[in-house]
Amino acid sequence: MSHIESILHENRSFHPHPEFQASANVAGPEHHQSLLEQAAADHTGFWAELARQHIDWHKPFTQVLDESQAPFYRWFYDGELNVSVNCIDRHLAQHANRTALIFEADDGTVNRVTYQQLHDQVSQLGNALRRQGVRKGDRVIIYMPMSVEAVVAMQACARIGAIHSVVFGGFSAKSLGERIADAQACLVITADAGFRGGKTIALKPVVDEALNMPATDCVRHVVVYQRARHPVNMVENRDIWWQDFIAGMPSVCEPEWMNAEDPLFILYTSGSTGTPKGVQHSSGGYLLGAIMSMHWVFDAKPASDVFWCTADVGWITGHSYVAYGPLALGMTEVIFEGIPTWPDAGRFWRMIQDHKVTTFYTAPTAIRSLIKLGADLPRQYDLSSLRLLGTVGEPINPEAWVWFHEEVGHSRCPIVDTWWQTETGSHMIAPVPGALHTKPGSCTRPLPGIHADVVDEQGNSLPHGEGGYLVIRRPFPSQLRTLWNNPERFRATYFPAELGGTTYLAGDSAHRDQEGYFWIMGRIDDVLNVSGHRLGTMEIESALVSHPAVAEAAVVGKPHDVKGEAIVAFVVLKGPRPEGEEAARLSAELRNWVGQEIGAIAKPDEIRFGDNLPKTRSGKIMRRLLRTLAKGGEIDQDVSTLENPAILQQLSVAG
Ligand code: WT7
Repeated sequence: MSHIESILHENRSFHPHPEFQASANVAGPEHHQSLLEQAAADHTGFWAELARQHIDWHKPFTQVLDESQAPFYRWFYDGELNVSVNCIDRHLAQHANRTALIFEADDGTVNRVTYQQLHDQVSQLGNALRRQGVRKGDRVIIYMPMSVEAVVAMQACARIGAIHSVVFGGFSAKSLGERIADAQACLVITADAGFRGGKTIALKPVVDEALNMPATDCVRHVVVYQRARHPVNMVENRDIWWQDFIAGMPSVCEPEWMNAEDPLFILYTSGSTGTPKGVQHSSGGYLLGAIMSMHWVFDAKPASDVFWCTADVGWITGHSYVAYGPLALGMTEVIFEGIPTWPDAGRFWRMIQDHKVTTFYTAPTAIRSLIKLGADLPRQYDLSSLRLLGTVGEPINPEAWVWFHEEVGHSRCPIVDTWWQTETGSHMIAPVPGALHTKPGSCTRPLPGIHADVVDEQGNSLPHGEGGYLVIRRPFPSQLRTLWNNPERFRATYFPAELGGTTYLAGDSAHRDQEGYFWIMGRIDDVLNVSGHRLGTMEIESALVSHPAVAEAAVVGKPHDVKGEAIVAFVVLKGPRPEGEEAARLSAELRNWVGQEIGAIAKPDEIRFGDNLPKTRSGKIMRRLLRTLAKGGEIDQDVSTLENPAILQQLSVAG
């Protein structure tokens, strides 16, 4: 039996508000249906038409899709463009003075940048990089706090054809060094330090340490943006202040014309084992995915929206929906240096009010922590500017969805739960909000031109209702082109021979309901096998979180003589962590609760309470680590990327 059982049933459904629907880019089910039909009838023709309409080509493409080297697909591969020109220059004729970026610093200082100013800054840095010898195809590491300069750095690389690789500012010297070495970068752009939650986060010293690691002598220069007046050591002939680097540079910079298939960037994503994977994206196809999803899913209205994606530029979300997508449409967007809980848990809501944000995109983990810290706080702010909400990063449990809908969106704003990955570059399965009704916990249906399916181990499509592997059957423009330096790992990881070698394996499990709506059940690696029943983690977690006392939960398996695997749940309460008898009482209550919500098979065998869960810097629960803890084993994994290492001790003790 290869399918994964779905045990959780959520029946609520929400229709688009008539006011929203009336002005939506895709207004109503008929319009949506016609897009789906066009894409189904002529997959390549559909994407080619959109690429012509939405991208400014320097040299128009005549070829659409090359499948001859599958799974190394090529899109629009005789076309030429520059991504930075598409994000900036093309808006200057009519909207030079439109605000592109509203930057709010950790301390609340606000700085606005128009499209003209953005153009000038990007051009200056592009010229400076060129003068330093950076050429098309060279790799540049960006290790910066959330800032206007981080976006400028990415755009400047795009402008001169250098391949950027942004490394999140919370990564350790070791992680940074590994990435520098793998990419063989010639230059690093960083800052002295950044500010987060009132604390100074040093960056340049981490770069110095990383550059002592093996195979990093490829780096010839380090450009340092002075953000915090933090003392740093400048290495002679290697390090230069950003301000000095760009001094006297012209604010016009001839773009490098890039083939549609030339890499735009590499972004490292931690694999479940071994070294991080350098996900390599293209220029043309990637940009098209970012643009179309802005239009379809975020229902972008460039002249009137204020768009805010809270992701850091260190993640793919901060690439597609901060640095590229919104700018390609000429939108005004907010970028934020700080954290949602500082100076208090009302920060997001205050910023939505102050900047009159219309579209707000964040992660379920942030939503859950803000519920825990102040479920009533949004009521203290004027959130009437909002018209659309979105989530990304993991399945959102229905309880958090409903809270977000009611308390933040005032039951008026659709929620787009967007399923995608670093590797897919842009949204794959997500609501088109003026056309589809939504269901809490479901990312709804694949976007036009995305052939998602749920299959068994042999690649056979599974009927609705049965859980299996989530795959994408046809190539799509924004997908990764390869793993940097590792085409074989690319092929083996994403296009396994068992599925025929051309079907994209996402690594998630999912099922579809009777309406064809997709429900993500968790990572394939995390699937439990309890007495022969294969269960996704997400549904059990969701049932736990629907208990009024629970803020967060993570579920893993541990070996069990009889059942194969026993279920261990790690639980964070909304209130203080219980101990002794109170913990025992709550454990029993939660076990029964899960029994009632989904059935006896899913009852956790063991529950451990913690003040928090081990998460990566991007907010993902590290289930691999929890599995080791559940077994009572020693942690031998690298925990340097863990947000809160202290939590491991607490969770290692069986309750
Ligand atoms: C994995 C990709 C996509 C940008 C941020 C994370 C999980 C992501 C959802 C969602 C259920 C989701 C999946 C996916 N995931 N969005 N809306 N519903 N699961 O990018 O680090 O590459 O992670 O995040 O497991 O495979 P990433």
